[in-house]
Amino acid sequence: MISNFETLSFNHNEGVGTLIINRPDKLNALNILVLRELKFALTELKTAPLRGLIVVGEGEKAFIAGADIAEMKPMEAGEALAFSELGQLVTLGFEALPYPSIACVNGFALGGGFEMALACDFIFASKNAVFGLPEVKLGLIPGFGGTQRLMKIVGERRAKEIMFSGRNVSCEEAKNLGITLEVFEDKVKLMEGATAWFKNTLKNSSHAIYQAKQVLGQGLFEERKAFGNIFQTEDMIEGIAAFIEKRKANFQGKIL
Ligand code: COA
Repeated sequence: MISNFETLSFNHNEGVGTLIINRPDKLNALNILVLRELKFALTELKTAPLRGLIVVGEGEKAFIAGADIAEMKPMEAGEALAFSELGQLVTLGFEALPYPSIACVNGFALGGGFEMALACDFIFASKNAVFGLPEVKLGLIPGFGGTQRLMKIVGERRAKEIMFSGRNVSCEEAKNLGITLEVFEDKVKLMEGATAWFKNTLKNSSHAIYQAKQVLGQGLFEERKAFGNIFQTEDMIEGIAAFIEKRKANFQGKIL
């Protein structure tokens, strides 16, 4: 369904893809190769016949332990800008997928790894998950969109506190702050939980979920437009008929 990559693996089952960041010897740190492959994979995923995506890191220790610090060390300002642009294209690519995505965080989700998880629609975590934006400890700031996305979720003051301190955020705190939606015992249960969430949610209209995802960031005008557009679509006709006929809706699984 998508190309073969050096640092990514992919599989899919019943319309839900699983994208694995596969560089466990470096705790799946995001170097230029991983980011380029992600950017390319996301262009393929955008049009793939999928209805959901799970994103996960290979191994037991980390989702992603951040941008690759060794690779960033010699970067000049211009190269750093291009690196940040590439990282932002990747996070924007996740955000723009036409179906829901869940980042399954087991272990470290630091720096760029946390930023990538924040760009997915939801974060599910296992008990050993550790989140943080430790860039200030390296004399850096987050550059893959994390400043904006974290602020939207936890509010400006808490986002500043997390960013300025560079401290770790445990999975319990992440749950309390609304960063992670669900916490599971271990990685196996985490993956099962994400799969079960999709199994349940994808009984709903994929087209309606797509439209809802589009409008969330775009304000009331877009909401009005999409509300009008969704009327008399196949899914809407079926959903309303099923309610009136007191039966379960049988949606066709089409996005557009
Ligand atoms: N960039 C590049 N390499 C990284 C990395 C990163 N962000 N995070 C981990 N690695 C590498 C380590 O250098 C090490 O490589 P080596 O075995 O060749 O020496 C390997 O991954 C394993 O990491 P290690 O530090 O030995 O594991 P640990 O369990 O002792 O510590 C962390 C785990 C996450 C606490 C620690 O790796 C860390 O602090 N990483 C950087 C986190 C960070 O600042 N991210 C934001 C970057 S902007």
